[in-house]
Amino acid sequence: MKNKNKTVWSNRFKSKTSQSFQKIGSSIHIDKRLYEQDIAASIVHTQMLSKQKIIKSEDANKIINGLKKIKAQIDKGNFEFKEKFEDIHLNIEKALFDIIGPSAGYMHTARSRNDQVVTDFKLWIKDASKEILKDISLVMKNLLKKAEKNTDTVMPGLTHLKNAQPISFAHYLLSYFEMLKRDKKRFENNLNLLDECPLGSAALSGTSYKIDRTYTAKKLGFKKPTDNSIDSVSDRDFAIDFLYASAVCAMHLSRLAEDFIIYNSDAFKLISFKDSMLTGSSIMPQKKNPDPAELIRGKVGINYGKLNAMLTIMKGLPMSYFKDMQDDKELVFSGFDTLKDTLTISAELINSVYANKSNMLFMANQGHTTATDFADYLVKNKNISFRESYAISAKLVNFAEKNKKLLSELSLEEVKKFYKDLDKSVLKVFDVKNSMNMKKSHGGTSMINVKSMIKKYKKEI
Ligand code: ARG
Repeated sequence: MKNKNKTVWSNRFKSKTSQSFQKIGSSIHIDKRLYEQDIAASIVHTQMLSKQKIIKSEDANKIINGLKKIKAQIDKGNFEFKEKFEDIHLNIEKALFDIIGPSAGYMHTARSRNDQVVTDFKLWIKDASKEILKDISLVMKNLLKKAEKNTDTVMPGLTHLKNAQPISFAHYLLSYFEMLKRDKKRFENNLNLLDECPLGSAALSGTSYKIDRTYTAKKLGFKKPTDNSIDSVSDRDFAIDFLYASAVCAMHLSRLAEDFIIYNSDAFKLISFKDSMLTGSSIMPQKKNPDPAELIRGKVGINYGKLNAMLTIMKGLPMSYFKDMQDDKELVFSGFDTLKDTLTISAELINSVYANKSNMLFMANQGHTTATDFADYLVKNKNISFRESYAISAKLVNFAEKNKKLLSELSLEEVKKFYKDLDKSVLKVFDVKNSMNMKKSHGGTSMINVKSMIKKYKKEI
């Protein structure tokens, strides 16, 4: 029992670890989240060692049973994680000695913590990516539901935050559907890229034992083993990829949140939220503030920060493993937790939003948003160039502005001041709904297009 509190390297060391170093050197409070992956990988590694006759099957069985007991203890919250034993790998190995005795000493044959930690971490990121994929799908589903109810809701499409052209609220919502679709592909690509198992690379050079890395890789659900032992233990691209995909996804949601905040503002009044997604003020009794949207907008800062930190840790790091990399897990875990919260609240926020249709229609009419439609009408019907018709339409806008009229309020006689040869069919182009529904080009905002896109998206999801 005198070994019970000793580190595995105690025989080589003359003095005890400094207390302050132990505090920052230990990562157990963070990497205990890897326990399931660590135990799963240790079980497969042990099975492989036994299959290859590197260790005896009796020892292997003891190890596997012991590991299962440890998993059950941790699951139930009955396991004491010790800072002294640094990380999840050594905590579990120490506990295994306590449970099965000296047979535990055979488990760490032909591996190192360097390949062990990357294997665990890759397995964890695989699961986390799958969870994020599900969460993104829910946000997409809710966007689709909201879009379906708003295919003929006309709103002002904005560029530079200035009224540009009339669009369908559904089409606007579906622009985010496309962004999230790309986010899913990013996470899926990452899953594909990281699908190589590093276990068996050992410290950095491989091992002289006759291990079967393909067996280990396959049993752990990887496509194949990694091909270079040095790269295997020093590669953290998969963590960077995860953090990048998370940052981009959080950025998309931040843009959606900002749109919603602007559209909900008293200046715009285009959308409202259910009270369950608002907060009041401690002093102003009238207030209803869109805090959830503001949190979504802000959280992306955390995701950018974690990505930046990870890239900086890796910059200029020589081959191969260094302790610098230990902080990768805090960054990825926190990036994951943040994005997960953001996705959950975004899905709810989208459900809680409703369009103030009359305000949307009113605002779609402000700012001469059909000026391009008039120019297009002249090109199509009067055989003049777009630059020529653009100039005529600009003059018409100046006239309407001076007379404080909407384009749709102009009479045929007034319009004819700018182009003589016109009949009343031209007046239709100033109708914002008509403008929207004329945009039938592929990917355009017409109701017909949007409805068929919704049909297509529904099959995809
Ligand atoms: N906890 C360590 C990490 O996360 C495990 C690998 C330690 N290897 C070593 N040689 N110190 O990076």
